[in-house]
Amino acid sequence: MALHLDLSGLFTVAPDGRGITPEDLPANAPRAAAARGLLEEQEPAWRRLHAGSEHREACARRAAEILEQGVDTFLVLGIGGSALGARAMLAALAPVYQDWGAGERPRVLVLDSVDPDWLGEVLERLDPARTHANVISKSGGTIETSAQFLLVHDWLCRGLGSAEAARQRFTVTTDPESGAFRALCEAQGFASLPVPPGVGGRFSVLSPVGLLAAEVAGLDTTSLLEGAARTDSRLREAAPEEDAALLYALTHVLLLERGFPVHVHFAYGHRMRFLADWYQQLWAESLGKRLDREGRVVHTGPTPVRAVGPTDQHSQVQLYVEGPADKVFTFLKLGRFGRSLELPEPFADSPAFRHLGGRSLNELMEAERQGTEYALLEAGRPSCVLEMCRLDAFHVGQYFQFLEVATALAGHLMGIDPFDQPGVEAGKKAALALMGCSGFEELAERIRERRGERPSLVLSC
Ligand code: PA5
Repeated sequence: MALHLDLSGLFTVAPDGRGITPEDLPANAPRAAAARGLLEEQEPAWRRLHAGSEHREACARRAAEILEQGVDTFLVLGIGGSALGARAMLAALAPVYQDWGAGERPRVLVLDSVDPDWLGEVLERLDPARTHANVISKSGGTIETSAQFLLVHDWLCRGLGSAEAARQRFTVTTDPESGAFRALCEAQGFASLPVPPGVGGRFSVLSPVGLLAAEVAGLDTTSLLEGAARTDSRLREAAPEEDAALLYALTHVLLLERGFPVHVHFAYGHRMRFLADWYQQLWAESLGKRLDREGRVVHTGPTPVRAVGPTDQHSQVQLYVEGPADKVFTFLKLGRFGRSLELPEPFADSPAFRHLGGRSLNELMEAERQGTEYALLEAGRPSCVLEMCRLDAFHVGQYFQFLEVATALAGHLMGIDPFDQPGVEAGKKAALALMGCSGFEELAERIRERRGERPSLVLSC
C-alpha cells in the first residue's frame, strides 16, 4: 500500500536543449534543504490533520444525525477549497453514479456555483423534506457561498414550513471563532463544525470541510486519514535525496525556471478526474504569485492543466506532442483497477478487433497511458508517473497529503508564500463591491471608472 513516484522521464531534453539532468538534483540540494527546513519550522496545521480522531468523530456523529433525518440528498454549498476536495473524494471513492440517488446513502451534490439555471433546476428536482445542506466557508465572507446559503435556506423554509425546521437541515462548517457564518451559528443555533485554525481552504480536505460529506457518503475516513499519516511520516523520515515530495517539487520548479511553465496532471482513470481538478486549484492558487517572500514583484507560477486519459488523448495530445515544448506531465496511474473487464472475441477474423479479443480494458488503459508517455518522451517532453496501487480511501489520503506537502515545498523553493491568495481576495472584494456591500463603495467606484477607461470593441454576430 503505497504511492510510487517515477521521476526518470523528467530528465528528457527538449528539442532545443532545455531540460533538467540528474546532476541538477545534488547541485540544488542546499536550496531543497532550505525549503524543507522552512516547512518543518512552520509545521502548518493542515499537515497534522490526519493525527487525532476528534474531527473525524465529530463528523461521524453529525453524519449519523443527518442520516436519521431520512434525507436522500446532501448538498455541499461552498466554492474553491471548500468544495473541490469533497467532489474529488466522492468521484474517486463513492459508487460511480452516487449523484443519481440510487444508493443506500444520500447522494452528495457539490453546488459550487451561483449559476441560476443550474441551481434553479437542481432545486426544482429535489425534495426539501429529504435534503440536508452543508454550508462550508472558512472566512464566512465568500459571496457565492453566502448567496447559495440564502437561496437554499429560503427554499428549505418554504418547503418545510418554518425557519426552525429549515435550521435543522443545515450544518455550517466555518472558522471556530470568526466570520459571518460563525456569528450566525452563535445567534441562531445552526449546528456547526470547525475549519481548524491555520488550515486554508485548498489544504482543508482532510478536515471537517471534506470529512462530513465523506461520512455522509459512507466513505472510509479512518483509512483516508491513515493514508495521509503514512505518507506524511514517510516523507518526514526520508533523507532529503529520497524525499518524494521534495524531489517532485524541486524537479517541477527547475523545469518551470527552464521554460516549462505548463504542468499537466494527466489522470488515467475516470474516477480520478476530480482529483486532477483538486490538484489544479492547489497548484495554481498556491504557486501563482505577484510577490516573493521579500516583497519583490515576480509574477511567477506554473499553469496547471487537468487532463483525463484516454479521453483527452483525442483532445489535447496533438498539442502536447507537437505544440510548444513548454509542458511537463504527471501521469496519475492506477496500479490496479477495482474490477477487470475482459473483451469478448466474436470477430476474431477482423483486423479491427482481433488484437482486442480476450484482452482486458485494464490492459488497454495502461497501453494508452504508456503510448502517450512514449509519444511525449520521443518528442522531448518531460513526464513523470505518480502511481496509486489502488483507488481506495487509504491511497486517496496518501495522494492528498503528498501533493499538499509537495505544493508547499514548491512554493518555498520558488521563494513565494504558498499559503496566501491575495489575487482571489481581490476578486472576492470586487464582487462584493459590485453587489453593493457596504464598506466597498470606493472600490465599486474605481471598478466603474476602470471599465470606462477601456477601449471599446463590442461585436455581435
Ligand atoms: O483555497 C482557498 O483558500 C480558496 O479557494 C477558498 O477555499 C475559497 O475562496 C472559499 O473560501 P471560503 O472557504 O473562505 O469561503
